[in-house]
Amino acid sequence: MKDGLKIQFNGCPEADVENGPLAEHLTRIEKRLFARKEPFTGWVGLSAGRGETPSPDAERKRITVVAERVRKQCDVFVVIGIGGSYLGARAAVEIFGAADEAGSENGAQDGGSGRKAPEILFAGQNISGTYHASLLNSIRNREVCLCVISKSGTTAEPNIAFSVLKSFLIEKYGLAEARKRIYAITDPTGGSLRAEAAEQGYETFEIPADIGGRYSVLSAVGLFPMAVAGVDINRVLSGAERAASEDSIKAAKKYAAARKALFDGGKAIEVIEHYEPALFYFAEWLKQLFGESEGKDGTGLFPAALSFSADLHSMGQFLQEGRQIFFETVLNVVSPPGDLTTPQSADPLLAGRSMNAVNRAAMEGVIAAHRAADIPIIRIDVPDLSPENFGLMVFFFELSCAFTAYLMGVNPFDQPGVEQYKKEMKRILAETRAENR
Ligand code: PA5
Repeated sequence: MKDGLKIQFNGCPEADVENGPLAEHLTRIEKRLFARKEPFTGWVGLSAGRGETPSPDAERKRITVVAERVRKQCDVFVVIGIGGSYLGARAAVEIFGAADEAGSENGAQDGGSGRKAPEILFAGQNISGTYHASLLNSIRNREVCLCVISKSGTTAEPNIAFSVLKSFLIEKYGLAEARKRIYAITDPTGGSLRAEAAEQGYETFEIPADIGGRYSVLSAVGLFPMAVAGVDINRVLSGAERAASEDSIKAAKKYAAARKALFDGGKAIEVIEHYEPALFYFAEWLKQLFGESEGKDGTGLFPAALSFSADLHSMGQFLQEGRQIFFETVLNVVSPPGDLTTPQSADPLLAGRSMNAVNRAAMEGVIAAHRAADIPIIRIDVPDLSPENFGLMVFFFELSCAFTAYLMGVNPFDQPGVEQYKKEMKRILAETRAENR
């Protein structure tokens, strides 16, 4: 792994987070977070950065051992969950799956078993009958295991998906065998999923009580699916550990301070941009992390994510000339896992070029054009998409998000607003139950 993240601030202030006006406030926030005394700050200990954590090593070893068993048991592993119980794992699976297919040594590996990793599919992140019917059809004749992830155990989407997939499993294998093919990740003690797992004897992992969904990627929630996919979770965790270093914390503070300053200066939207399709779900996780953590009490930056260069052909016009209510954060992978050289028959300007070099020219061209339109741009360079850098990015963005939320005066760890639609949905379901419409 090459060295950490590099951040450049273009058209927005680079705060002096050691002696500037926000320095004291940021130090207070850092102390609050790293003390891990306040509710839902347990994720800070997952980086194991400050040596205060009671050793989570035993749990991590068990994750690896059980994952190895799963890899022998099935050729399709369906991960059921939504929001924080879904996006981190999906982000990792997409990144390392793409690296694997591009032939990079940073991809998901065979875990030493010599057996190809099961295909990882996802369910319960929507309530679409079409999606789930098609998923069932695609796995009918394959060897299947399920991993249901829900901290509360009561979320509607994973609940429905789990009930459907569990029935399918029981029908396919019989109850006793189905039980051996179900893995549950949930609250250590509370909730209906924990109770069912105990009753049915499913193998379980814990989502620690003091860690909320979107901050749980480095717990079993993200690590177990990653391990089944063949990702070396120790490498992920060692990267996360590096993100708790002094330099990395300073970088997170600078990023948070710039986001707050841009918000105070009238920017309502942060457009997160990347040039690697494999980062699509990482950007989705970022949207969730920032959106749910900051958007409350009438404040918060609205996080949007664009995948370039595709979205330059849909949103590029707005960015260049539309209403400037946004700033841009570019997530740039310096050495992507794969590359190709274009044939000589290509357009003369492109012939014989590395595709990554052309992609880089696109990024630099976009930055130059948008800067000419006076759009503030924060550029974050990640050296490569190694497991270490994945862990490092996860912890860096979690920390940056918590810093910004506290600077904005909101609690980064709750999501009271999400309950409103659930209440309405339940009311409508109750009203329409009799006619099943
Ligand atoms: O970040 C969060 O807390 C949420 O996005 C949750 O992860 C999401 O709502 C799923 O909740 P649960 O794990 O309880 O099913």
